[in-house]
Amino acid sequence: NGIWRHPCPMNMNVVTSSRSSCPINAVVLGEALASEESELVFPSKDFSGQAMVASLEKYLEMYKRSIEDPAGFWSDIASQFYWKEKWGKQVYSENLDVRKGDIKIEWFKGGITNICYNCLDRNVETGNGDKIAIYWEGNEPGSDGSLTYSQLLQKVCQLANYLKDVGVKKGDAVVVYLPMLMELPITMLACARIGAIHSVVFAGFSSESLAQRIMDCKPKAVITCNAVKRGPKVIYLKGIVDTALAESAKSGISIDVCLTYENQSAMMRGETKWQEGRDIWWQDVVPKYPTTCEVEWVDAEDPLFLLYTSGSTGKPKGVLHTTGGYMVYTATTFKYAFDYKPSDVYWCTADCGWITGHSYVTYGPMLNGATVIVFEGAPSYPDPGRCWDIVDKYKVTLFYTAPTLVRSLMRAGDEYVTRYSRKSLRVLGSVGEPINPSAWRWFFNVVGDSRCPISDTWWQTETGGFMITPLPGAWPQKPGSATFPFFGVQPAIVDEKGLKLEGECSGYLCVKSSWPGAFRTLYGDHERYETTYFKPFPGYYFSGDGCSRDKDGYYWLTGRVDDVINVRYHSYLPWAAYSKMKLSIWDFVFITNKFPVIRTCGSGHRIGTAEVESALVSHPQCSEAAVVGVEHEVKGQGIYAFVTLADGVPYSEELRKSLVVTVRKQIGAFAAPDKIHWAPGLPKTRSGKIMRRILRKIASRQLDELGDTSTLADPSVVDQLIALSDS
Ligand code: PRX
Repeated sequence: NGIWRHPCPMNMNVVTSSRSSCPINAVVLGEALASEESELVFPSKDFSGQAMVASLEKYLEMYKRSIEDPAGFWSDIASQFYWKEKWGKQVYSENLDVRKGDIKIEWFKGGITNICYNCLDRNVETGNGDKIAIYWEGNEPGSDGSLTYSQLLQKVCQLANYLKDVGVKKGDAVVVYLPMLMELPITMLACARIGAIHSVVFAGFSSESLAQRIMDCKPKAVITCNAVKRGPKVIYLKGIVDTALAESAKSGISIDVCLTYENQSAMMRGETKWQEGRDIWWQDVVPKYPTTCEVEWVDAEDPLFLLYTSGSTGKPKGVLHTTGGYMVYTATTFKYAFDYKPSDVYWCTADCGWITGHSYVTYGPMLNGATVIVFEGAPSYPDPGRCWDIVDKYKVTLFYTAPTLVRSLMRAGDEYVTRYSRKSLRVLGSVGEPINPSAWRWFFNVVGDSRCPISDTWWQTETGGFMITPLPGAWPQKPGSATFPFFGVQPAIVDEKGLKLEGECSGYLCVKSSWPGAFRTLYGDHERYETTYFKPFPGYYFSGDGCSRDKDGYYWLTGRVDDVINVRYHSYLPWAAYSKMKLSIWDFVFITNKFPVIRTCGSGHRIGTAEVESALVSHPQCSEAAVVGVEHEVKGQGIYAFVTLADGVPYSEELRKSLVVTVRKQIGAFAAPDKIHWAPGLPKTRSGKIMRRILRKIASRQLDELGDTSTLADPSVVDQLIALSDS
């Protein structure tokens, strides 16, 4: 063991014999067990024997071609889709170097296609019309539904016809604020069918966040539902939309159409507030439309969707993805990273309000004609065995989730897992943050019975699809490492001067050259696109993540290096705290006389510290705030806010609560600070810049690592903060 060495995937010195001599299904520990870097977990012979890419050699051969001949590599793959007209002579054109002019990325320009056609009509026409496209599992066990590819196509066409009828045209934006009902992917596909740009806003964002997004993209229509039940709690979504629409109307953005799905499992229509003329029930109009609808053929570079994500300033960024490259990339990454087979049943626990739900609930799987599970509820409701109940019910083979869920289920106890069979599972997946090795091992050994490889996929809203990911049958994994780059991706680890580091190293993770799924701009702000992603290290796309590469060439993501916090937040807090005491969820209910607060499952909530700060300072009694991320047992990272109050305002528990409520109201519940730390002053340099480095150390109680505080305008502030640490 430990003989599998390669400085980088392009010139690995591969010794594959170690795999064949390795006992099937065993976790093989390398060298002296000393470091995680040397722990290799091999795919079983059975798994590799049937895998699409069954060896490292095969991967290297394909990877090499993807780098040396991207045009040939990707156009061969793209040709498997339907194009009304083929792209022009140039398969792609790019400039990722700000020193050479404007940043520009184009793939398959001139190619005319439609992603909805490729997801649905193409599957129906090739004989898969009767295959299940979506199994829908409701919040309450026992509430479910399904749609075949033919039925899904019909539903999509009806909505597409309705949207056309109310004046939505190619290039218009449509804002979607829906929970995980089948109507969410239906809406995305219907927009794509008519060339409209969908902008899905996670239905956990507040009315203010929704209004901000509506005002930015000025949609022709808003699509929502009256309410949703998450766990035992009813959330009145239409009320949130009403407030957002009133808010945007004040800025002159008035919306003529608010199509509202009646989600009877949560609330009846009679209880829903209504604005005649603007609001219309989905069920009253959409089913009346024809079940066929002409496709709007679009250029590969026409926009497909906008998805707002957090950056390091207060204003969310409208990440814009276009059609052709995104289509080819999501389909290909899905196929290889999960070693997809047509008989698979695939479940990704993410919500379509995030990129994971775009690329790997809707587009990637459906482009492959896969059967997908759409789950409305919370993964720990009614108890932490729900996921495995669903896995057994639908015979799920591919299960893709986030480390936060893995950790919280791990804490709930193995018995919730082992009481279910889980025999159908083949491949497990992880996304959203680095998965810590102990959670990885639990996922592998307990959930996957030491049988299912784990694809730890590193990627971002901006990248559209997987960038660094295992190909599950091709090489051994190391718990906690996303392993190697996907085809066509050239990662570069650079130092602070932008110098590319070779071999074993740590630094900033960048990417050289474009890949088809890359985002093309930030909506309405190309300059911010260039400044944020391409100026920090000229010649490269900068991911915002830190990363190291070990002696074997494996990549290890270490988290954000900018002011963005990855809160992977879904769990049944505060029950999680009780579960540490080995109490069951029912003990919790008994003791506290409360149902646990159940959040939606999701692969990611990315929050800019500046967004939370600006929400806090909007509170009349807050004069200044500084927010940092701290390690959090379940969420990965927690939100820690230092707050300075206005002169003369005393600290109080009530005020603390009211600050938290302000953030929940302005951004959403998932952005609520886990800790408010009273700060008489903040540590600032003489030029007034807050030294977050010091705040991070105080937040994580690493008080002996505060470093040099002498450059602070007032070093005594630090002592005051430490004194107030436990207040
Ligand atoms: O920090 C990285 C982390 O999530 C960030 C991207 O967040 P978002 O755009 O919300 O997309 C989440 C779903 C793709 C990255 O910059 N991240 C994502 N996946 C991983 C990860 N960190 C480590 N390992 C991963 N597998």
